[in-house]
Amino acid sequence: MYRSNTCGELRIENVGQTVTLAGWVQRTRKMGGMTFVDLRDRYGITQLVFNEETNAELCANANKLGREYVLQVTGVVNERYSKNDKMPTGDIEIIVSEMKVLNASDTPPFTIEENTDGGDELRMKYRYLDLRRSNVRENIELRHKFCLAVRHFLDAKGFIEVETPVLVGSTPEGARDFIVPSRMNPGQFYALPQSPQTLKQLLMVAGMDRYFQIVKCFRDEDLRADRQPEFTQIDCEMSFVQQDDIISLFEEMTKHLFKEVRGYDLGEQPFLRLPWAEAMRRFGSDKPDMRFGMEFVELMDVMKGTGSFPVFNDAAYIGGICATGCASYTRKQLDELTNFVKSQQIGAKGLVYARVGEDGSVKSSVDKFYEPEVLNNLKAAMNAQPGDLILILSGEDAMKTRRQLCELRLLMGERLGLRDKNKFSLLWVVDFPMFEWSEEEGRLMAMHHPFTSPKPSDIAKLDTDPANVLADAYDMVCNGVEVGGGSIRIHDAELQAKIFDVLGFTPEKAQEQFGFLMNAFKYGAPPHGGLAYGLDRWVSLFAGLDSIRDCIAFPKNNSGRDVMLDAPSCVDQAQLDELQLILQEKKVN
Ligand code: AMO
Repeated sequence: MYRSNTCGELRIENVGQTVTLAGWVQRTRKMGGMTFVDLRDRYGITQLVFNEETNAELCANANKLGREYVLQVTGVVNERYSKNDKMPTGDIEIIVSEMKVLNASDTPPFTIEENTDGGDELRMKYRYLDLRRSNVRENIELRHKFCLAVRHFLDAKGFIEVETPVLVGSTPEGARDFIVPSRMNPGQFYALPQSPQTLKQLLMVAGMDRYFQIVKCFRDEDLRADRQPEFTQIDCEMSFVQQDDIISLFEEMTKHLFKEVRGYDLGEQPFLRLPWAEAMRRFGSDKPDMRFGMEFVELMDVMKGTGSFPVFNDAAYIGGICATGCASYTRKQLDELTNFVKSQQIGAKGLVYARVGEDGSVKSSVDKFYEPEVLNNLKAAMNAQPGDLILILSGEDAMKTRRQLCELRLLMGERLGLRDKNKFSLLWVVDFPMFEWSEEEGRLMAMHHPFTSPKPSDIAKLDTDPANVLADAYDMVCNGVEVGGGSIRIHDAELQAKIFDVLGFTPEKAQEQFGFLMNAFKYGAPPHGGLAYGLDRWVSLFAGLDSIRDCIAFPKNNSGRDVMLDAPSCVDQAQLDELQLILQEKKVN
């Protein structure tokens, strides 16, 4: 038996018991003839005591221990003289009578403490040491609890977890695939799934009725704080359902998870359902952060053509937000905001501001172009109060300008302390357009994915006005993060073929890429729909993290590298030969 108890377990009731513990040396302190060692494991920290007077040899050995040595100790639980109420085991200590060093340790490259001195890259290189830190470990524990709660909930609702393959075929219409060469089929490649989308639909055709899977997905896309090249979805699909059925079931699951895992009551009210167009108009985003207001006010009527400011007079969109109590912003603070807007490089033509003084007067950066009456109209339109700061962006591309105003709104929300990580605001964004125009591709692309059903009332418009067809698609948004998304699917081969046509696929190409699905639809596909949640995003929201990396045991860095495993890496020529792959000379810029 390595241990009788864990390092987080012993309390005052255990005083007098002889126990054996095993763990890592967090730190040692020598005070006179006494040596104190903090022994740590996953469950906590227990103080060990060595007394030179009673056991000089043992104490001398304890003095030689380094940080992160692995120990097994036996001793008696003793009530501490000076208790530590910050530690659950702070009332007791172990008077050690036997000690075995199970393993020595090099000095770790950073301190294994909550506030470590290790930088990001170093911690990732030694992630196994980083994971010993209690705050990092807690995120992994939270993730485990979250998954368990999801499995229990979905199981109780009749869902079964079905594994789908990781080596699949490459399909267009998404992010870039990660591809894997096949040795047995030279010149051919598997792709890693970006999601099990088509497979879960085939499971519906197979009559599985309610499917879920906690599953790895792979996307070769630019990384951000909430994006990893491999991430985990809670992927779900249901047969014989409509949008309302899916929304209400997953709303119930979300409320349950918040209560069960986060101890947060989202209340009885159903979540807001915000049509996509309204979300874009009011917040410039399809994932608005609704913890605070600061909604956009469109100012075209007020500011365009009512003065001589050329930028506004040429604009396709002028919109403002009102930052409460920020009228006293200094020049430097305003310059920071201007630089923030410029650094986004989305296309807005600089930042215009107007301060509302305590006496209600308005002073703006474009005063010389407008009569005072127009500025008063601006104040009225914005419903600005004394002390408020009005921030205005304009641009020739309405959508891009809104996106930029959205970033500014989020920044101001942050500055005003309105984005409290312990407060949660959830909503559904619904009624997405089916398609969006891609400048790069010069054609319409599916906004969700090509298997999403158009709203039945809009099917007729597929021929005449595809850009304005709405989809039976929905996203769940929490605190400005898209935590999940899904749709009702097409289950009719003909309609599916029509969508591929709108997306610019020839019938042959559609058959080549998606024939397996369209064929399956010929054999009695049930009406079906579903969604997928981003597990990493949920857990990082629950844990109040800034990046999803912190709730992933072994994440990739911003360049998609695993710095611990040093992957990706070159492979032996023999491996390349076996796969019949020839590498091009590395291009040097
Ligand atoms: P979608 O592409 O919207 O839908 O993905 C579903 C959810 O997965 C999360 N997510 C990510 N998380 C971390 N890193 C990434 N790179 C990443 N990409 C996506 C998000 C997102 O909401 N098959 C469809 C779902 C469906 O229609 O049922 C799909 O994959 O939280």
